[in-house]
Amino acid sequence: MSYALQVSQPTDFLAAWARELKHSALQDMLVDGSRPGILSLALGLPAAELFPVKLYSEAVKHVLSTDPKALQYGPPFEPLKKHIVKLMARRGVECREEQIFLTAGAQQGTNLLARLLVEQGSQVIVEEKTFTGFQQVLEPYQPEILTVPTDLATGMDVDAVERLLVEGAKPALIYAIADGHNPLAVCMSREKRIKLARLARKYRVPVIEDDPYGFISYNGYEEPPLRAFDDEWVFYVGTFSKIMAPALRTGWLIVPESLVTFLATVKEATDINTAPLNQRAISAYLDGGHFDQHLSELTCEYRRRRDVMIAALTEEMPEGTRWQKPGSGLFVWVELPSDVDTGVLLRQAIDEEQLVFIPGHAFAVNGHECPKNSMRLNFSNNPGDRLADGVARLARVLKRQRAAALVEKVV
Ligand SMILES: Cc1ncc(COP(=O)(O)O)c(C=O)c1O
Repeated sequence: MSYALQVSQPTDFLAAWARELKHSALQDMLVDGSRPGILSLALGLPAAELFPVKLYSEAVKHVLSTDPKALQYGPPFEPLKKHIVKLMARRGVECREEQIFLTAGAQQGTNLLARLLVEQGSQVIVEEKTFTGFQQVLEPYQPEILTVPTDLATGMDVDAVERLLVEGAKPALIYAIADGHNPLAVCMSREKRIKLARLARKYRVPVIEDDPYGFISYNGYEEPPLRAFDDEWVFYVGTFSKIMAPALRTGWLIVPESLVTFLATVKEATDINTAPLNQRAISAYLDGGHFDQHLSELTCEYRRRRDVMIAALTEEMPEGTRWQKPGSGLFVWVELPSDVDTGVLLRQAIDEEQLVFIPGHAFAVNGHECPKNSMRLNFSNNPGDRLADGVARLARVLKRQRAAALVEKVV
């Protein structure tokens, strides 16, 4: 799924790493999925109909009418940090405003941290299948990427992390998505969280905990984030993208206080400030006291959608198909019977059923082996009837593909 960018002009003036840049399968999906008539189970988009449009626009109006500085360059908006401290406390994380650094979203958060931690020749530890956005973050540094497997029920193989460290690896960071993993849809067990935080401290390796999905939890907040287990070596990355709206481009880091000035300097070099208007408007929206109800409605609806997708998979998928019911996040990771190649299936799904999804190997790190029969399905961005229809379309293509393969075999 990932291949070198094809351009007709010479590119020899580009930095070596940029010449190696790979095409993003997810960007393709964004284009494919927005074509009229296409049903997309591909991207991790939240449900636009659940954005808090009315109350947020009132918050924007209020800010613009009372605070002319909202449209000026400006420092981070301190009252928003107070809200974030309270938000994190619900998840069992104690932090102080001085440890919070506001960003333009989780992607920028991981990017800024990588800039401070990684250089050419660094080692980093990531899972064999992980969020492509973080793989892109690493590209300019061309680090040595050490991978560990992931158990689909309990998360990252932390024993494998330990083995690497014991054998002498000196990683600049370990990247983890402990809740609602993208793409594997697993939440890390408590035992593994505790052990990973201990390893981070013992070996003095920062863990970047990327957590866009942890606030959307279908069984209550079962386990606290990794950051609850270590406040020095776990660098937490949060965002309003999935719990309010991605277009706000507002997120936060929780880091040791000593890192904040370094982050401020690299952020200034990147984009000077994060939209002061949005920071003020989010803060005003949170002042209004409606967020609890919003989050509870969002979680309820996503739980409903998850259940529709799981029921449809149970009904429609052939024997030998496996998935887990996610406790958090917006995805189901599906492994079809071993004779299916989801890359081939995708082309057929687009042509025959106007359906898109992401084949599992799009998430493989370093071309690491990934079951060719795996796929990631999103359930947040379509109402229940569309989700059921999407799974039915998938089942039809699958049936036709397998019938054709059978005929070929017989002939
Ligand atoms: C694991 C992970 N990290 C980061 C992001 C990007 O989040 P943001 O919109 O806050 O930049 C996503 C978005 O899909 C994600 O899945």
